[in-house]
Amino acid sequence: MKRIAIMTSGGDAPGMNACIYSIYQIALKKGYEVFCIKDAFKGLVENNIFQLNKTKEDKLYLKQLSIQGGTFLGSVRFKEFEQEEYQRKAINNLKELNINNLIVLGGNGSFKGAFELSKYGINVQGIPVTIDNDLFYTQYSIGFMSAVNTVIDCSNKIKDTMNSHHRMALVETMGNKCGELPLFAGVIGHFDCIYIPEIYSSYSTLVTTLNNKISNKEEIRIVLVSEAICHVEELKDKLEKDIKKEIRCVNLGHIQRGGNPCEFDINIAKCFAKQAMFNIECGIYNKAIGIEDGEILSLPLDEVDTYKSHNGNSTYEHFIKLAKEINGVK
Ligand code: F6P
Repeated sequence: MKRIAIMTSGGDAPGMNACIYSIYQIALKKGYEVFCIKDAFKGLVENNIFQLNKTKEDKLYLKQLSIQGGTFLGSVRFKEFEQEEYQRKAINNLKELNINNLIVLGGNGSFKGAFELSKYGINVQGIPVTIDNDLFYTQYSIGFMSAVNTVIDCSNKIKDTMNSHHRMALVETMGNKCGELPLFAGVIGHFDCIYIPEIYSSYSTLVTTLNNKISNKEEIRIVLVSEAICHVEELKDKLEKDIKKEIRCVNLGHIQRGGNPCEFDINIAKCFAKQAMFNIECGIYNKAIGIEDGEILSLPLDEVDTYKSHNGNSTYEHFIKLAKEINGVK
């Protein structure tokens, strides 16, 4: 019997459920039995594995879940999986169920775990999911665009009240060490300043940016601050003195990871699922799936780490150029 297992790992992101549903649909059509692993690598080690049924009710239930945020499989960060002892337990659990194919949905850390499992002969396919968009071998990861929409939506709400009170807000966004979430949200949402490590190397340049805008009589309402640089509370008091403006701080936090996926994420979730299943069917082993300028790609899992930024990608570079124009920096 042909069998596959699916797990969602790392920080959740909108579109995970959509991708699981697509894999399930395609796999059933191709005659696979579909297993799910609860709570990522921890669940795999603890043998927390169950089979997805093929009944009409199950199909309907999964279809309804597919447009919801989060992951119904759960996700747990599990550092211990670096240890061989845990990897062997995981492999035994898969082997006992005769599962030779595993699809891992997640980010950088999840792909590392997936790669370790591939060394034991399991065919592992990695599907990129992260709101940070910091898997640089792929132009987009599932969840990123939904999070961009959330940041825009929330920041616009904050902007309404900042406008009324002639104030400025520092809005902190997630992204881990990567500034792409505020970069895309800031450019698409036309906010006033985008403070990200990809553009700013020092606090004093931010002060110059804002003071130039103030001298030009520009109203500054929303400054997006990447968590990769600092927390907004750390910035507030000093910045209030340096630009002589009343400032409010909002940390958007986990709201950025929630909510239903946008159309773009549902669409790429389907395409990535299709590619992962194609690879499994064709016996193409251990790939990371991605997208570049509309083309779906499959890269060796062990090459993922060699991509250190999106430099060279024309869309990314265009966004950096636009953000610099917004900020008024060269
Ligand atoms: O990697 C996704 C991410 O949301 C980052 O943007 C953020 O820094 C981190 O996870 C938050 O992690 P946690 O959910 O463990 O607080």
